[in-house]
Amino acid sequence: MKTSIWEFSVGLCVFLFASCTQATFRDDPTVLVTLLVRNKAHTLPYFLKLFEELDYPKSRLTLWIKSDQNQDQSLQIMNKWIASVENSYHHIYHELTSSPSVADDKIPTNWTQERFKHIISLREEALDKGRELWADFVWFVDCDVFLTNNQTLKTMVNTNYPVVAPMLDTLSLYSNYWCGMGLDYYYRRTDEYKPIRERENKGCHRVIVVHSCFLVDLRQVESKRLTFRPENINGYNGPHDDVITFAISGYWTDVPVYICNQIKFGYLLAPLDESQTIQDDYAQLTNIMLEASVDFPPMTAHQQLTEYVTPPAKSTHGFDEIFLINLERRPERRARMEWSMNQLGLKHKLINAVDGK
Ligand SMILES: *[C@@H]1O[C@H](CO)[C@@H](O)[C@H](O)[C@H]1NC(C)=O
Ligand SMILES: *[C@@H]1O[C@H](CO)[C@@H](O)[C@H](O)[C@H]1NC(C)=O
Repeated sequence: MKTSIWEFSVGLCVFLFASCTQATFRDDPTVLVTLLVRNKAHTLPYFLKLFEELDYPKSRLTLWIKSDQNQDQSLQIMNKWIASVENSYHHIYHELTSSPSVADDKIPTNWTQERFKHIISLREEALDKGRELWADFVWFVDCDVFLTNNQTLKTMVNTNYPVVAPMLDTLSLYSNYWCGMGLDYYYRRTDEYKPIRERENKGCHRVIVVHSCFLVDLRQVESKRLTFRPENINGYNGPHDDVITFAISGYWTDVPVYICNQIKFGYLLAPLDESQTIQDDYAQLTNIMLEASVDFPPMTAHQQLTEYVTPPAKSTHGFDEIFLINLERRPERRARMEWSMNQLGLKHKLINAVDGK
């Protein structure tokens, strides 16, 4: 009896030791990162900087980049960035096409059927590529997402859900998930939405739709049932919209989808409505940057890409003078305010405050 307990203990120790060492030496999972770029010249210098700063080994990331029909400098930016990081990542697949823009894109806020069809094939192609490469994950991330928290990818990879997204903050209630869907398959407001969005309920929550930034765990067999293609979904006759078709392919086949909000991960630009222009997007970007600076270091452009960022012209906006009053012993507050003034194009005069204590 004594011996067998001894043998059992030794066995257990060896077993524990083996599993510990195995865990210690196991590599991080491999991720195929899908970047689809169109007319994102204003967000890319910030997006790419934050992307590069993620705390995740680049040797475990393969990038899959596609860009076409740009009317701005997105292509130049992507070419320059890819050249500067080419050897850092496991591999970079890229197809940057300088095709002439089509007429329907004159209004970037109005998505045509053609455009949805195009994005559905690109996303499906990325999913297939991930399966073909035996990648552990495929990560779909839009270039107007700002992952100010460098732990985001690591945290998501470790959740162990088939589909998972970090909840992203915006200037409104808008975010990258839906808790409800109507019979027409479009967004439906539900009571669960707001407590998640406002982080009254913290953790990972099962939802119906995630978009803009989400990971698919290809190691989980359920993931085989996921698709963006409407014709691959049995009995589906709803809209041809990649966000909706992907969600339905999971929802109808019991593939759970989660949104996590336990900490702040980053920010997202809300889509423009049809009356808005690209100028409104610039303003939104500025406001998001100011908002992010409350919890994270100020967002700055990628060092290689500063030429693509034009700081606003400075003025006093009709006032004779704008004063910034700051105690000299609070240099970090001064730096943040000066950074904010620059983002807003406010020309200020600095006055050293007198500590009256
Ligand atoms: C992640 O961000 C934090 C806070 O900004 C910083 O202190 C830390 O050094 C960063 N970690 C890595 C690995 O970049
Ligand atoms: C958006 O595009 C579609 C298809 O081209 C068109 O039918 C619709 O009227 C457009 N909507 C607006 C508000 O321009």
